[in-house]
Amino acid sequence: MLGATLDYFILRGLAHRRNLATEEQLDLRSRQVSARSFEEDPSKIHKILRRFEGHLPVDPGLQYLDMGCGSGELTIAFARFGVKRITGVDFLPRHIERAQACARLVGAGEGVRFLCRDLRTWVPEKKYDVLLSFDALEHIDEPEGCLRKMTDFIAPGGIAVLAFGPLFHSPYGDHMWDFFRLQIPWRGVLFSEQALLRVRRECFRPTDPAQGYREIAGGLNLMRYSEFLRYVRDTGWEFAYLAVNTFLKPVPPLRLLSDMVMQVPALRDYFVHNVYAVLRRAARAPY
Ligand SMILES: C[S@@+](CC[C@H](N)C(=O)[O-])C[C@H]1O[C@@H](n2cnc3c(N)ncnc32)[C@H](O)[C@@H]1O
Repeated sequence: MLGATLDYFILRGLAHRRNLATEEQLDLRSRQVSARSFEEDPSKIHKILRRFEGHLPVDPGLQYLDMGCGSGELTIAFARFGVKRITGVDFLPRHIERAQACARLVGAGEGVRFLCRDLRTWVPEKKYDVLLSFDALEHIDEPEGCLRKMTDFIAPGGIAVLAFGPLFHSPYGDHMWDFFRLQIPWRGVLFSEQALLRVRRECFRPTDPAQGYREIAGGLNLMRYSEFLRYVRDTGWEFAYLAVNTFLKPVPPLRLLSDMVMQVPALRDYFVHNVYAVLRRAARAPY
C-alpha cells in the first residue's frame, strides 16, 4: 500500500502475539490428543450437508477421499455419520499423526485411514467415488494441477465435492486473522506481502521461514474465483452444483448490490469468499 517498510509499521501496530507458536510447539500440541481434545462439532457436518442442498451423498456403499484432511475431524465425522470407507490425505505429518491418533481414540474402524501424501504427486492404488475437500483448495499450491490430478483419483461416475475459501482476493482472504487485533478487509491485497509475512514471523509463526504466501506451512495459493471457474473447465470437469458466499450477501439491503457485483467478473473476484462446488467429469474433453 505505502511500501514494505511503512506497511510493516502499520500492520505491526495492529498485531498481537497471543497466538505465537513455533513449529515445534505446534507439533507437540498436535500430539496431545485426548477424548476431550477431540470433540468434533456435530453441527459442522450438518451445516456442510445443508450447504450442498442434497448434492453431497452420504452412502455406506461408496468410497470417499478427503483431500487436504488436516487433522481429520471432518473425515472421522463423515465416518460417524454413515460413510463406511474413507481415506484422508494431507501432506503435513503432524496433521496425519493427529488424525490417526484421533481415529484410534474414537474407534473409527478399519474403513477410516489417513495417509501423509502430497496430493499433487500422489498416485493412489484405487479410485474413489466421492472426492471431498473442505477448506483446502485455497491452500494447495498449483490448484489447476491439483484439479487435473483429481481426475486420476476418481472412479467412473464419481463426483468431487469442494468447499473452500476465503479466497485470497476476498476481504479476509489472507488467512491472517489469528494475530491481528483489528481486521482490515482486503488486507492481503492492500498491504505488501513482504510486510505481512514479516509481521506473521514476529507475532505468529517465528520458525516458519516463509517469505511469500505460497511458502507458508500448509500453503496459501492466490487463486481467484474467475481462475477457479477456468481451471475447472480446462481440466475436464463440469459443474453439477455451484454456489458462493459473497461479502455483501449476508446484509439484506446489500443483496441487490451483491447480485450486481457478481455480474462483473473483475469485481466478483474481490467479493466471492467461499465456494461450494460439486464437479463431475465433463462429457466432452476440454478444448
Ligand atoms: C485449512 S486446512 C483444512 C483441513 C480440513 N479439511 C478441515 O476442513 O478441517 C487445509 C489443509 O490442506 C493441506 N494441504 C495443502 N496443500 C496440500 C497438498 N499439496 N497435499 C496435501 N495436503 C495439502 C494442508 O496441510 C492443510 O492441512
